[in-house]
Amino acid sequence: MESNISSELVQPVISKKQLKKLKREEHWVKNQDSIKEKWKLKKKLQKVNRKNKKKDTAKDTNIDFKSLQNGVLNKKALKLSRIEEFKLKLENSKQQIIIDCDFNSYMQNKEVQSLCGQIVRCHSVNKSLTIPFHIFLYNVSAMLHDQLMKAGLEFWQGVTCILKDDKQIDFDMFLAQYKIQKEKIIYLTGDSSNEICNITEDQILVIGGIVDRNRHKGLTLTKADELGLNHARLPIGDYINLKVSKILATNHVFEIIGFYQENKYKTEDVWKESFLSIIPKRKFNNTIETNKISLSDEEDEILLLSNTNT
Ligand SMILES: C[S@@+](CC[C@H](N)C(=O)[O-])C[C@H]1O[C@@H](n2cnc3c(N)ncnc32)[C@H](O)[C@@H]1O
Repeated sequence: MESNISSELVQPVISKKQLKKLKREEHWVKNQDSIKEKWKLKKKLQKVNRKNKKKDTAKDTNIDFKSLQNGVLNKKALKLSRIEEFKLKLENSKQQIIIDCDFNSYMQNKEVQSLCGQIVRCHSVNKSLTIPFHIFLYNVSAMLHDQLMKAGLEFWQGVTCILKDDKQIDFDMFLAQYKIQKEKIIYLTGDSSNEICNITEDQILVIGGIVDRNRHKGLTLTKADELGLNHARLPIGDYINLKVSKILATNHVFEIIGFYQENKYKTEDVWKESFLSIIPKRKFNNTIETNKISLSDEEDEILLLSNTNT
C-alpha cells in the first residue's frame, strides 16, 4: 500500500538557530587558515597598541619609558605622579564652582546616597579637566558627609567641604570666608527665565546638590532669589527638544560645564556638542527638527529616572 504522507513531513526540520550553527561550522572548516591568520594579526596589533599606550603614559607623566616597560614603576607610583600632576593643574586654575548641598530635608535616604554618587562622579570628571575647578560643597549634612568620607573625600584634591553643623554658616558668611565675590555668582537652575549664553573663567557657578526627581519644582530658583543671586538655566532648548523636562542631574550639569570650559575655544558649537556628549546617546530619537535633536516623552522620563537620578 502506498503511503499518503508527503515528503515534506518526512524531511527533518532544522530550526533557524541550527541552520545558522551549521553555516558557521561550514564557514570555519572552509576558512580556518585565513581566520587564524586574522587572529594572529589582531593580537600583534593589540600588542603594538599596548606598547604605544605605555609610551604615551610615560610622555604625559614624565616617567622613563624603559622603567615602565620593565615594570619597575608600579601602579602606585603612576597614581602618585597623576596626583602631583592634578595638584599642579589646580594651582594654575582660578575656576571655582559651588555645589549647594543644603537640601537634605527634601531628600529620602536613598536619594542622599545617589547624590553622594553624583558628587563622586563630579570629582572624577574634574580630575580629567585641563583646567579643573576648585569645588566647594556647601552645607553638607552629616549623613552625606559620612557617605562622602567612605568614598574617599579626605583624599580628594580641590574639594572643600563645608559641613552643616550647629554653627550654621549662612551663604554670605561662607562667601566671606572663602573670599568669593557675590556679584560673580550665577545660580544654575532649570526654572530660571534667564539663559546662560557663555561661561567665563571668573564666573562662579552654583549647582543644586539635590536628587528629588524634580518633586520640588522651583526650589533652587526660590533659593537664588532669596539669597539675592543671579540665576540662569542652561540653553538646552536651543539645541535639543526635551518634551517633558529640561531638569538634569547635578553631575550631568557639572559635566556639561566642564565640557564647555574645555572645548569653548575649539568649536563654535560647544553647547550643542556638550549636550550631545553628556546626555546619554541611547536616549536620543535621532529626529532632527530644524537642527534640534528630539527626545521622546518616554525617553526623557527614562532619562530622568536612569542611573543618575535627578
Ligand atoms: C536634579 S536638579 C534639582 C531640581 C530641583 N527641583 C531644583 O529646584 O533645582 C539638580 C541641579 O542641577 C541644576 N540643573 C538641572 N537642570 C538644569 C538646567 N536645565 N539648567 C540649569 N541648571 C540645571 C540645578 O542647579 C539643579 O538644582
